[in-house]
Amino acid sequence: MSEEDVRGDGGLEARLEEEATFEPPESFVEQANVTDESIYEEFEENWPECWERAADFLEWDRAYDEVLVEDDAPTYQWFTGGKLNASYNCLDRHVEDGRGDAVAIEWEGELGETRTYTYGDLLEEVEAFAAALRDLGVEEDDIVTMYMPMVPELPIAMLACARIGAPHSVVFAGFSAEALATRMNAADSEHLVTCDGYYRRGDALDHLSKTNEGLADVEQDATTVVVDRLGDDLEHSLTEGQHDYDGLVAAHEGASVEPVSRDAEDMLFMMYTSGTTGQPKGVKHTTGGYLAYAAWTGHAVLDIKPEDTYWCSADIGWITGHSYIVYGPLALGTTTLMYEGTPDYPEKDRFWELVEEYEVDIFYTAPTAIRAFMKWGTEYPEAHDLSSLRLLGTVGEPINPRAWKWYYEHIGGEACPIVDTWWQTETGGHIITTLPGICEMKPGAAGPGLPGLDVRVVDTAGEEVEPGNAGYLTIDKPWPAMLRTLYRNDERFVSEYWQEYSDPDADEWVYFPEDGAKIDEDGYITVLGRVDDVINVSGHRLGTMELESAIVATAGVAEAAVVGGDHEIKGEAVYAYVIPEDGYEGGEELEDKIVDNVVEGIGPIAKPEDVIFTPELPKTRSGKIMRRLLEDIASGNELGNTSTLRNPEVVEEIAAQVQEE
Ligand code: PRX
Repeated sequence: MSEEDVRGDGGLEARLEEEATFEPPESFVEQANVTDESIYEEFEENWPECWERAADFLEWDRAYDEVLVEDDAPTYQWFTGGKLNASYNCLDRHVEDGRGDAVAIEWEGELGETRTYTYGDLLEEVEAFAAALRDLGVEEDDIVTMYMPMVPELPIAMLACARIGAPHSVVFAGFSAEALATRMNAADSEHLVTCDGYYRRGDALDHLSKTNEGLADVEQDATTVVVDRLGDDLEHSLTEGQHDYDGLVAAHEGASVEPVSRDAEDMLFMMYTSGTTGQPKGVKHTTGGYLAYAAWTGHAVLDIKPEDTYWCSADIGWITGHSYIVYGPLALGTTTLMYEGTPDYPEKDRFWELVEEYEVDIFYTAPTAIRAFMKWGTEYPEAHDLSSLRLLGTVGEPINPRAWKWYYEHIGGEACPIVDTWWQTETGGHIITTLPGICEMKPGAAGPGLPGLDVRVVDTAGEEVEPGNAGYLTIDKPWPAMLRTLYRNDERFVSEYWQEYSDPDADEWVYFPEDGAKIDEDGYITVLGRVDDVINVSGHRLGTMELESAIVATAGVAEAAVVGGDHEIKGEAVYAYVIPEDGYEGGEELEDKIVDNVVEGIGPIAKPEDVIFTPELPKTRSGKIMRRLLEDIASGNELGNTSTLRNPEVVEEIAAQVQEE
């Protein structure tokens, strides 16, 4: 299809309606990192050796002996025998290549202050902080927790840990004190790097008090390093065992810390994420496979080049930030932009101001942000020159064709391909998406599996569904960045991901990501969302069990069921159906207490959109709560068949009550 067809009166609209595809712009293809479509065939025919291509993005202290060892499947091992250091690969080698003056991190605070770190600067501070961590007693394989907002000290701390072979566990700063304590306890982590506070919509937020509250519930003694982000805007004092970051770095200025050579399979970091049951899962990622894959996908999917300014607007507290703000971009030697604040402070054009100011080449964000931008109006992006952009990306949740179109037209000026990247904390990097220099784009569909990935959509029996039909997503071959296990819980690792569709007797292992999907004739996959009890709020994963435990901990609550309901901006929002205890009234007072408990137990992102009090929950004859019905009520959908319920009358009652509200 020609440019003219795309432009003009409603042309784009019409093409979207007929589910048309979009070719990547010629100007993009001409310069793209990957343009040869035979890569799909090549990876298939040459599997698993094809993954050497990813490993080649790294410098190895010792070459690996084997690409893949499957003896302990589903615990696969990649690049075995290989040795490397992640911090060396993200820093030293660029400096050794004469790129010490190239910018590694551009950072902008919410109030507008800026900091620029060249690769040389970053290496220096990473070494100083690595030396400080060692002095504080951090040894190889110790887990260092980080509970920090979007400040440069966060990637510096991550790389300092990587340098001395101490895996990190980053806890999202928006999570509660309780969430911090749970994660530190689960990991037996005796070291914490945190921050006094940060700015949100112009206000100085006190983060240290929340940290201290969490530390009070940590079972082991923990040495703590505190970054002073707020200066005079927030006076803070340090208690025993707490150290000032700047003081430590100054005391170790000029230190030289040899990067510790790690086995490819040694843990680089772990990251807790939500699942079906209450306890968060500690996903383990390794040094060789993960880093190789983050670099490879950064190159092939995000088209990152060393001379680019690349911006992923996620928070480093989530996997997206780990793979595509820190490790992938820095391994590729590019300039990665970090922004501390929200997109609407001080004005709703803040992101576009940043794109213009830093001449951002690649912009990667979440559909929830795009839906907010759409709502705010086109005047905000229109006020800025966005012509530096070459590629756009989305991650975290499905993007509907309308939001896709808006992004394509108003941000990309119809000149940038969009990569809609499906992946998970567990997958470490992109799995389903188009290669932007090769594939056509189909708004709403993430695309085919990447080269070397065997992604399928199957029915409950594990048979592939006919094109056009919906089913469950599976990944039938391992890949280098896959999680290796759940920290200290190998059993749960198998039962969560490998039970559903594998045949252990035949040693056939199929990874089940717990997402539903639809596949088209051309192999393009539209991801429909989670099929387990996980809610995706603004691209953030929340377990219903965790939410329900926080709610039933409230005095006056007898039982609770939490579901996700449609939400214009957040995609999904939390809806809580609550049965009050005898003697308690469901009303504003109880609702406030419930909301407070959820915010305190998990964090503000988990705040329920609505709390609906009911004397009963709809249950099947065997006593299982019918969540599907509660979801339909929350989303205002037509209600399906209720005849199999033990108490069908309650559904109408709840629905009527929600409508009234
Ligand atoms: O349901 C899928 C959804 O996000 C889940 C993974 O969440 P998390 O581990 O927090 O990682 C988010 C960032 C990678 C998936 O199981 N998801 C992620 N990306 C997409 C998506 N759903 C649809 N389209 C996507 N592009």
